[in-house]
Amino acid sequence: MSEINNEIESILLNLIRKRMQAMQEGENTKNDLLGLMLESNMRGTDENGQCISGMTIDEVVEECKLFYFAGTETTSILLTWTMVILSMHPEWQDRAREEVLGLFGKNKIEHEGFARLKTVSSVLFT
Ligand code: HEM
Repeated sequence: MSEINNEIESILLNLIRKRMQAMQEGENTKNDLLGLMLESNMRGTDENGQCISGMTIDEVVEECKLFYFAGTETTSILLTWTMVILSMHPEWQDRAREEVLGLFGKNKIEHEGFARLKTVSSVLFT
């Protein structure tokens, strides 16, 4: 377990180092969670790199682990079971497909549009 943990931390630290470098070179934070956490770290660090407020890099690494592990298994199991259940109930598969195509056609699904997906929401969450 400790070996796996070291490997995961080194992968995350690598990603963090790359993103911090890009941010220091002027790239915007892309407005994602990692960018926001690193902004907090960089704003709260004195000229010697000591963290005085904001998040420490260790805390950023822990948050990345938490979000990754809390988010992947749960989401993939939900999607897998949804596929299984939809294959058992093709009439709901048709209704969900029709709703998505009716609302978005071949356009990319926008985040704001999710709230209008009534059938898909009830398939996924009830
Ligand atoms: C179908 C998908 C998901 C299910 C069923 C699910 C379920 C849960 C449950 C039951 C809890 C515990 C709540 C409690 O403490 O009472 C929880 C906590 C949490 N979930 Fe999810 N979750 C899902 C997706 C996600 C995703 C996608 C993320 C992040 C990207 C996420 C991040 C978290 C976090 C950060 C916590 C709080 C952990 C803590 O500090 O205790 N979850 N989730």
